[in-house]
Amino acid sequence: MNLPKPNKINAEKYVAGLSLYKRKAVKIKLSANESALGPSPKAIKEYNKESKNLKRYPDSEGRLLRKVLANKFKLDPKRIILGSGSDQIFELICKSFLNKNDEVIVPEFSFIIYRIYSKIYGAKIKYAKEKNFKISIDNILSKVTKKTKIVFLANPNNPTGTIIGKKELLRLRKKLRSNILLVVDDAYFEYVKDKNYLSGMKLFSNSNNVIITRTFSKIYGLAGLRVGWGYGPKKLIYALNKVKPPFNINRAALFAAVESIKDIKWLSKEIKHVNKWTKIFYNNFKSLGIETNSSYGNFLLINFDKVKGSAKKIFLKLAKNGILVRKMDVYNIKNSLRVTVGNNLENKKFISTLRKII
Ligand SMILES: Cc1ncc(COP(=O)(O)O)c(C=O)c1O
Repeated sequence: MNLPKPNKINAEKYVAGLSLYKRKAVKIKLSANESALGPSPKAIKEYNKESKNLKRYPDSEGRLLRKVLANKFKLDPKRIILGSGSDQIFELICKSFLNKNDEVIVPEFSFIIYRIYSKIYGAKIKYAKEKNFKISIDNILSKVTKKTKIVFLANPNNPTGTIIGKKELLRLRKKLRSNILLVVDDAYFEYVKDKNYLSGMKLFSNSNNVIITRTFSKIYGLAGLRVGWGYGPKKLIYALNKVKPPFNINRAALFAAVESIKDIKWLSKEIKHVNKWTKIFYNNFKSLGIETNSSYGNFLLINFDKVKGSAKKIFLKLAKNGILVRKMDVYNIKNSLRVTVGNNLENKKFISTLRKII
């Protein structure tokens, strides 16, 4: 019997940060770089309010949210595209730009979604080696060939938590062929405090060959609602809009996102909290002999080469104590885990458990 045959897709499947251990929900989830304090209460209120309008389709163009974003960041609303998470923007980019045999460059340890969508749309991935877990512009440039179509990078980078300075990013754009699309993922930009750093948006909002992405899943605490966005030159955003599913953001998500942006106080509370705890985490790790680099996001990459016990064993022991962190096997970062900053109680419990284990 001849049965329907799906296309062969040569990409790894995305494995999300765990919420379950041995099929039971864990109490403390520090595995997905979600916000520590959750969404603004104003966003939750708006979300609940929208539950009365569920029979209505959402605005397919998300006009209100685009307007609010444009006002806040001084942008052109026509050049904003909304996605069901920034994930979807990466997919739309790959769908619009990639053909079989094109090449995509990603840093060695970059967010895995870039390579998954690139492969789904037929491209070959070229990995640019990092230097001490930092993105190397020279190594990216050394991977460029005639076939290169897109370079993806996140700044700060996930899973390493490191940043590249503004000069380096500008140098990358200058040295790349003009018909290579540079995608700068600003997912964690709000947390960064460094004078050499500027977000992708600040650096490239007027560029004609860069798309910048941002998300409501991190600092705004709306990962469950799936809202992200992209900003780029008119022509490119027009191309993405052609392949965008019409109702890709649901009503409640659109309205909650609008309210969360307005709540500046909530945002600074989250930033303060995360900046404080990344330092505390860092100091605790150092005193335990766990190697780490100071992180610019809401998470730290930690290595266990210099302590007793492997990342694998420590992951299991933490999980048995109801704490989930992220394994780094899929990124091929040896003997390491990634941990997200949680709320006060979660962080204290994590540190005391880790201390007991080690
Ligand atoms: C660098 C980076 N970009 C984007 C995302 C995903 O964001 P979204 O939830 O908007 O799809 C993540 C999530 O972990 C991330 O680490």
